[in-house]
Amino acid sequence: MPYAMRSNELLTISWKDNAVVMIDQTKLPNKLTFVKCTTYEKVADCIKRLVVRGAPAIGVAAAFGLALAAIKSKASNPSELLVELETAFKVLTNTRPTAVNLFYALERVMQKAKSQSSVKAIRDAVLNEALMMAEEDIQANKQMGSFGASLIQDGDSVLTHCNAGALATVAYGTALGVLRAAKQQGKRINVITTETRPVLQGSRLTAFELKRDGIDVSVIPDTAVGSLIARGMIKKVIVGADRVLRTGHVFNKIGTYQVAVLANKHKIPFYAAAPLSSFDLKSSPDQVTIEERSFDEVVMMGSKRVVPKGVRVFNPAFDITPPELISGIITEKGVLTPPYDVSIKMVLG
Ligand code: MRU
Repeated sequence: MPYAMRSNELLTISWKDNAVVMIDQTKLPNKLTFVKCTTYEKVADCIKRLVVRGAPAIGVAAAFGLALAAIKSKASNPSELLVELETAFKVLTNTRPTAVNLFYALERVMQKAKSQSSVKAIRDAVLNEALMMAEEDIQANKQMGSFGASLIQDGDSVLTHCNAGALATVAYGTALGVLRAAKQQGKRINVITTETRPVLQGSRLTAFELKRDGIDVSVIPDTAVGSLIARGMIKKVIVGADRVLRTGHVFNKIGTYQVAVLANKHKIPFYAAAPLSSFDLKSSPDQVTIEERSFDEVVMMGSKRVVPKGVRVFNPAFDITPPELISGIITEKGVLTPPYDVSIKMVLG
């Protein structure tokens, strides 16, 4: 069913009556509420505050942000409208630096806008491109699911970190999409999710969406990963990615690297699932900005301070897992295996 017609399905982001409607992920798991954005500034604010988060969802939300900028504009000629779109592009670009989908989506929509010759054509093209990206995201997730499910065996206990599920995409999910597909094939699986300190995407979001779908899920503190792996309680690890480099380096939620080291030490497979829109073929690891988020995420637990005042805090939101720790990268074109410089080149050129 085309994306624009999926009105009865629970979508992380949808386009309704010239507005972007998003699930407010800051309120989960306690309340399932929605935020309506009618300006690109509000979309940018929602991306910054993690109302919408997860690399593919951020990309699609930003594309809709440009669509809002185009639709709301009073520009009377194409060049005026393109100047306004450039302003929106900059504001949306400056929201989160690590997920490459943001830049991929914004650049793709801008290119489409620049190739039009009237105000109406730009407006239509920008919105159509954003809608197309939303649909492509769902399709890519389903394809990743069917490729990735072959890696999962009946009875597997699978660890995931953060949330690479329906909530991190338009629908279905990348890493969790693979687990959904495995379950749809009749495999019995149980999923163990880390809490994912400090923002708790694992316990708040992954547990929420898997429970809602009837998938067996347990939550563990981040600090329990080593113990469970050492006790043989985890057969596989599957995570998402914010950016995958040509070399196979995977940028993902902080803590992913230590999970990969533990998986390697105990010889269990570690997989990343990422659509091709999360690949960055130009950068080297040191050229990618790792987002540093507010100290409040670390020093506060709800309304309670848990770090003494005056103590230094670091809060990097992402880390880098090197290719030698990764057993396979699941994409919509198949499962890529080492050496990644070769397998990635075969798929992406
Ligand atoms: O800070 P977040 O919640 O946006 O981080 C999300 C992740 O790290 C996900 O694993 C990644 O974006 C992949 S989502 C399919």
